[in-house]
Amino acid sequence: MVPLALHLRRSSDASLYRQLYDELRDAILTRRLANGARLPSTRDMASELGVSRNTVMGAFEQLLAEGYLEGKVGSGTYVAHTLPDELLSVRQTVLKDRGAEGPGAGLSRRGAVMAGTQIIPPRRHSDPRPFRPSPPSSDLFPWKLWGNLLAKRWKSAGAGLLSYGESLGYQPLREAIAAYVKSARAVRCDPRQVVVVAGSQQGLDFTARLLLDPGDRVFMEDPGYLGARGAFVGAGASVIPVPIDAEGMNFAAAPGKARLVYVTPSHQFPMGVTMSLARRLALLEWAGRNGAWIIEDDYNSEYRYSGRPAASLQGLDVANRVIYIGTFSKVLFPSLRIGYLVLPPDLVDAFAAARALSDLHSPTLEQAVVTDFINEGHFARHLRRMRTVYEERQSVLVESVKRELDGFLDVEKADAGMHILGWLPKGTGDREITLKARAAGVEAPALSSYAMIPPERPGLLLGYTAFTPREIRAGVRKFRTAIA
Ligand SMILES: Cc1ncc(COP(=O)(O)O)c(C=O)c1O
Repeated sequence: MVPLALHLRRSSDASLYRQLYDELRDAILTRRLANGARLPSTRDMASELGVSRNTVMGAFEQLLAEGYLEGKVGSGTYVAHTLPDELLSVRQTVLKDRGAEGPGAGLSRRGAVMAGTQIIPPRRHSDPRPFRPSPPSSDLFPWKLWGNLLAKRWKSAGAGLLSYGESLGYQPLREAIAAYVKSARAVRCDPRQVVVVAGSQQGLDFTARLLLDPGDRVFMEDPGYLGARGAFVGAGASVIPVPIDAEGMNFAAAPGKARLVYVTPSHQFPMGVTMSLARRLALLEWAGRNGAWIIEDDYNSEYRYSGRPAASLQGLDVANRVIYIGTFSKVLFPSLRIGYLVLPPDLVDAFAAARALSDLHSPTLEQAVVTDFINEGHFARHLRRMRTVYEERQSVLVESVKRELDGFLDVEKADAGMHILGWLPKGTGDREITLKARAAGVEAPALSSYAMIPPERPGLLLGYTAFTPREIRAGVRKFRTAIA
C-alpha cells in the first residue's frame, strides 16, 4: 500500500472529485506512484481525506476507464502495469524540451511576428480609475432599458436569431448604421458596404491582413493609436511615423510612398487636432495618385461639444480609397465588441470571406439589440445626454487641475473627444510621472508611450468621461499628493 500526500482544497472552484482525479493522475505521470503500486481502498482513502466514498470511487473509476489504474474498485486497485515506461519517458523528454525552447517555440513566422508585437498587451480586466482615457460612463448607461430590449428579443428569438447569422453582419443593423453614418457623418454609403465587426480592433486587423504584405509601408500618425500600430506591425508591415501639426497628419513630411495611411481626422488620437479640409483633399488626391489605401478611424466623432462635427474624410473620397471604421465602444460600451467598417464596394466580398474564416460572424442577438436601440430613438437620446454630461465632466477636470496643479500641469478645454492633454514642464519625464501617479491610484498615461518619436513636449492623457465630478476632484488631489 502506498502512502501518498494528496492535497484537496475545499475552497477551490474545482470539485473534490476533480481535484482527487488530477492529483492521482499527476502522481502516476510523475512516477510518485510507481507502476503496479497498490492504492488504498476507497473506504480508507475517503476517511483519510475526509471526503465521501463516492468521491473516491468516482475518481478511481475515471482513472480505470482511462487506463491509469487496473483492477476492480472494491477488490484492489493498482497503478497500471502496462503504462509503458518508454511512453512516460518520451513524455518527460518532450515536456523538458518544450520547456527549454521557451515560450513561443513552434510558432509560424507569421505567429512569431504577431506574438512578438507587444504594442498592445492582451487585455485584463481592471475597473477604470481616474483618469483612464477612453472608457465611456457606465454609471449613466440605460442598463434597464437595454435589459428590456434584450429580454424582448430573447423571448421572441426563433431560428432567425439562434442559427448562424451573416458574416457581413445582421442586415437590419447594417441598414441602421448606413442611415446613421450618412446623416451624422456625411459618409457616402449603401448598406451593402457596411460590415459589422467585433470592434474597431477586428476591423483594423482584417484591413491590415487583407491589404498589406509583410514589408509594406504604412504611414501612421505619431503619436497615434496603439491598437492600429499593433495591427499593422502584427501583419508584418513597416510602420513609418508621420508628425502631427495644427492641420492634422502632415503626410507631406513623410518620406517616400506607402501602401496604406492611418488617420483619425475628426479628432486626432491622442493630440485632438481636427484635420483641415485642405489636408483632407490633399491626402485623398495623394492616395489616388499613389494607389494607397486610407483608413479613417472615426472612433469618437460623436463627442463634439461646440460647433458641428467635421464631415468624414470618406464622404469626400471619389476614388474609393477610404476604409471608414466606426465603433459602438465609446457611445455604448466597449465589452459589446461591435464596430463597423464602410468599405469601398469592391472590397466587401474579401472582408466577408476573411470574417467567415476567422469567427463566422458577430453574435446576432447583441446586433439585434443595437438595431432596436438605434431604431427606437434611444441611441440619439443617449448621445445627446452624454454630450452634456461629458462636457460638464471635462470642465470639472480642467478647473480642478488649474486650481490644484497650476504651474505643473497645463490644461486647456477641448471642444471634442473623451480626454484632454495635460502638458508637463519641459524636461519632465512623462513616463516617470505616470508611474508615480499609478502608485497613488491614478491612471494618467504618458503621451510619449503613444509615440514612435519622442514628442517635443512631455504630456499626460487625462480621461474624464467615466468618472463623476467627485471622483475627478479626488483624482486630481491624489495626483497632487503623488507628485508633491
Ligand atoms: C483611436 C481609437 N480607435 C478605436 C478605438 C476603439 O476600439 P474598439 O472599437 O476596438 O473598442 C479606440 C479606443 O480607445 C481608439 O482610441
